[in-house]
Amino acid sequence: MQQPEIRKLTHEDEIPYHLLYLADESITAVADYIHRGEMYIGQVNRETIGIYVLLPTRPFTIELINLAVDEAYQGKGCGKALIRHAIATAKEKGYKVLEVGTGNAGIGQLALYQKCGFTIYGVDLDFFEKHYDHPIFENGIQCLHMIRMKIDL
Ligand code: COA
Repeated sequence: MQQPEIRKLTHEDEIPYHLLYLADESITAVADYIHRGEMYIGQVNRETIGIYVLLPTRPFTIELINLAVDEAYQGKGCGKALIRHAIATAKEKGYKVLEVGTGNAGIGQLALYQKCGFTIYGVDLDFFEKHYDHPIFENGIQCLHMIRMKIDL
């Protein structure tokens, strides 16, 4: 399938909230980081089908948050293309480490990030239980902890 064209979201673009909420159910969390981070969108035939956000965290470190691909386009390589773009963008900006966090129940996401070169370095215990107001389940497993992953750039 045609690979998405990936570029930074501009003021003329509409913010694709439906994609942001696909990766993060918390309206409060999304509202917080979209204004602190830079949003990048993936488009196929001018339709926005994917998104990711880059958020500087600590010196030399930036975080990939809210990676999402429209359900109709999943499983076709768009997620990998967005991650490769995020790695290249973070590197171009001079960062040394790109981090990402994903739920313990996200088996597909854990596979995807590791296939893209990320490695697990820690676990933020009870992150989802503490900060989300209702239980989240994926693959029949409760999402309680955030698995922290990183790639050296
Ligand atoms: N075991 C092993 N590999 C798995 C897997 C599993 N259970 N589930 C997925 N994968 C692999 C696929 O095999 C594929 O790798 P391959 O190309 O080597 O075969 C890769 O993960 C998926 O790649 P791709 O098609 O590029 O991903 P995608 O376009 O479907 O996007 C998400 C992936 C996660 C962005 C998409 O599913 C999505 O938007 N999900 C909802 C939001 C979300 O959970 N975001 C992540 C927040 S951390």
